[in-house]
Amino acid sequence: MDAAVTGGFDLRRWGDERLARVESALSDWVVAEAPAGLGDAMRYAVLDGGKRLRPLLVLAASEAVGGNALAALRAACAVELIHAYSLVHDDMPCMDNDVLRRGKPTVHVQYGQARALLAGDALQALAFELLAPDDERIPAAIQARLCRLLARAAGHEGMAGGQAIDLASVGLALTEDQLRHMHRLKTGALLQGSVMMGAACGQPNATALDALSHYGAALGLAFQVVDDILDVTADSATLGKTAGKDADNDKPTYVSLMGLERSRAHARDLLAESLAALDASGLPDTRALRALATMVVERDN
Ligand code: IPE
Ligand code: IPE
Ligand code: MG
Ligand code: MG
Ligand code: MG
Repeated sequence: MDAAVTGGFDLRRWGDERLARVESALSDWVVAEAPAGLGDAMRYAVLDGGKRLRPLLVLAASEAVGGNALAALRAACAVELIHAYSLVHDDMPCMDNDVLRRGKPTVHVQYGQARALLAGDALQALAFELLAPDDERIPAAIQARLCRLLARAAGHEGMAGGQAIDLASVGLALTEDQLRHMHRLKTGALLQGSVMMGAACGQPNATALDALSHYGAALGLAFQVVDDILDVTADSATLGKTAGKDADNDKPTYVSLMGLERSRAHARDLLAESLAALDASGLPDTRALRALATMVVERDN
């Protein structure tokens, strides 16, 4: 992660410590011992790569509300497993047909389509297993809330629904409303869901919860606007995935709709919106959340 010092807050320092915990937990929980090489494909999909933005959002939101740290670590890993599964399927020939992901050959290139499909399935199931441990230190109500939030964010009202719209929109010129709706679902929902899962590890009041929801929605949309921009402006080595794929696949994006400059300005407006939401949260310390939002918009990969 780039060193980002925002308002005296050192995101790199804050993030490195938490990333170490997340990496080690993911490596423990995604085991190689699954039948017929499935575990190898699962580990390949999850470990050694990725910015881990969603886990960091979970942890930052949980810390901001004084949440249960054990629940937050599980939630952080669970959301990353769903994200990793979504990437495995997104890259398959029936979807975006990509060969490079996180600087490595995509899972279906490495292991074949059938195993990639099953690795995605198994990662999704494992995510929910992680959220419902037989561990009384995490109250059943929190476990249930986390499952509900993740299911919502990943399913037909979230990522999967957005991906369906994405595929149905190839070659179409969407209106801004339609594009926003697609991006909110396919990408925004899981990012907003990460924030709300972190919040669900504690007991924020209604004002704080509403502010976090607003923050997550603005940041989630900003994230995909920037993803669309980087597809055009960055190179494959920096991205760790093939640049220029959106135009190649004839996908409607913010850049195809409004051009680079207006897309950039839009991302900055969404960042301002997310930070304003935090200002209204009444939470005592939102520095990590602020720094993460800034990173989302200023990142170069
Ligand atoms: C890429 O997400 C896929 C989208 C939702 C646009 P990230 O940019 O967070 O990918 P990793 O996790 O860092 O590889
Ligand atoms: C993917 O969006 C969103 C997912 C749900 C995985 P993209 O198709 O734009 O993601 P990249 O650019 O391949 O990472
Ligand atoms: Mg896609
Ligand atoms: Mg893709
Ligand atoms: Mg993209």
